[in-house]
Amino acid sequence: MINLAERFLDAGISRRAFLQYCAQLAALMALPPSAGRAFAEALITAPRPSVIWLSFQECTGCTEAITRSHSPTIENLIFSHISLDYHHTLQAAAGDSAEIARSEAMQRQRGKYLIVVDGAVPLKDGGIYSTIAGVSNYDLLRETAKDAAAIIAVGSCAAFGGLPKANPNPTGAVAISDLIQDKPVINLPGCPPIPVVMTGVLAHYLAFGTSPALDRLSRPKAFYGETLHDRCYRRPFYDQGKFAKSFDDLAARQGWCLFELGCKGPVTSNSCATIKWNDSTSFPISSGHGCLGCSEPNFWDAGGFYRALSLPADPLENTTASAITGTIAGISVAVANRLVQNTAILEHQPVIVTDLEKSGG
Ligand code: SF4
Ligand code: SF4
Ligand code: F3S
Repeated sequence: MINLAERFLDAGISRRAFLQYCAQLAALMALPPSAGRAFAEALITAPRPSVIWLSFQECTGCTEAITRSHSPTIENLIFSHISLDYHHTLQAAAGDSAEIARSEAMQRQRGKYLIVVDGAVPLKDGGIYSTIAGVSNYDLLRETAKDAAAIIAVGSCAAFGGLPKANPNPTGAVAISDLIQDKPVINLPGCPPIPVVMTGVLAHYLAFGTSPALDRLSRPKAFYGETLHDRCYRRPFYDQGKFAKSFDDLAARQGWCLFELGCKGPVTSNSCATIKWNDSTSFPISSGHGCLGCSEPNFWDAGGFYRALSLPADPLENTTASAITGTIAGISVAVANRLVQNTAILEHQPVIVTDLEKSGG
């Protein structure tokens, strides 16, 4: 069977470029410099693990992200090196033959195969709101997970419930870790997650048979160990108190900080500001759009630029936010509102929903 090194050569990727990639990956994961060579040696001889990709309540954005990296990159070669035996969006097979491929992969690599999941799992009304081949997402997950080595929950929907779980959560959507407690679940949140993060974790698994070190939310510390704000190129403006007041004012055009426009960078743990997107070209803040906090739990309900359709107009009026804005002297209403919303994210509490619930709304 063709190994990973041969795949690189076939794709015209030099040994030097491959070693550089391994060194960069080791650095990104905060491993010692010697780990780069260990990464390279392990990847070259890495076995080809079976991966079953399950898509539940999702929008296909996570799959889009991982398949739209620039070609040919080492990242997508690693992705293509795995034996992707089942993937609703990418597989050619359909119907019975697709389901047979899944059960054959499970038997062939019992206890060794990986599951990647994108999407949340709806539990309400027996899970009827998302079924595949007549089987509820919950039953499919439970059956497929029983002999898996580990589960990688890609995207905020799978990691934390994401948009399907947002208020009023009509389908009773939950995260993968709410349902699977007897297997390692690695969360790679983001809406979608950064492709390099997905392939980096896969590469680590290929090379060493384990996930990188995880934080308390089961996210790899290497990619989620710092906030965007820590590494944002607009940070000097924040430190000087220079904020854009609208998306098209002179300050915005001069690249000043977007905090007063709702940027959630200070409370969002992700690597967007360093790894970036589209072959390290850009990330939302570079485009003049503040961070939505898309890789944090409850990011949609916690507020920001967009208001959930399910909420009444001006949800912060007469709530905790206005009480706090009245008591914080010397800062603008906009900044106070941002502080309230950011505190809500930090505590993983949807403050708007909580306030409405308190008032019986
Ligand atoms: Fe789509 Fe975002 Fe959910 Fe991924 S995390 S499936 S991109 S809504
Ligand atoms: Fe922080 Fe956002 Fe301002 Fe960047 S734009 S410095 S992440 S608040
Ligand atoms: Fe998401 Fe913020 Fe990055 S919105 S893509 S975590 S900049």
